[in-house]
Amino acid sequence: MTGKITFTMIKPDAVEANNIGPILAMINKAGFTIKALKYLSLTKEQAGQFYAVHKERPFYGELVDYMSSGPLVAAILSKDNAVSDYRKLIGATDPTKAEEGTIRKMFAKSIAANAVHGSDSDENAHIESDFFFSQLERF
Ligand code: RTP
Ligand code: MG
Repeated sequence: MTGKITFTMIKPDAVEANNIGPILAMINKAGFTIKALKYLSLTKEQAGQFYAVHKERPFYGELVDYMSSGPLVAAILSKDNAVSDYRKLIGATDPTKAEEGTIRKMFAKSIAANAVHGSDSDENAHIESDFFFSQLERF
């Protein structure tokens, strides 16, 4: 996997805790370049659409409520091996299992309110980027 981009969100819990700045700093420090960036909130319908792959999972309703509970930061990040390197930087979904020095270890509150999203494949990185950004909004 040598994909150049991944998609991330700084989730409502991390925004609420004033951690946008520290998280963006960690992203830059790890060698990622910001190609697109916006601050917005999702409706329940939009959050449901974004996480539609998880529709059958028991936590889907909670996830949709949570992701539409407040503003978030969405971004496209560029780097060689962007998807896998970013998953390493953010750490495990459950912050109690995340390695020291990862974004989730440092900033996540719980498995649901886990500070950041990171794409899980090159294909999803493009699908998720297209969900949030037009071509005019990418640099
Ligand atoms: P993400 O998609 O947000 O980067 O997270 P991930 O790949 O590490 O985890 P995934 O399995 O895709 O789950 C998506 C998000 O759903 C919430 N979740 N809650 N209560 C639970 O057991 C549970 N499990 C997952 C988390 O917010 C997770 O990031
Ligand atoms: Mg995921």
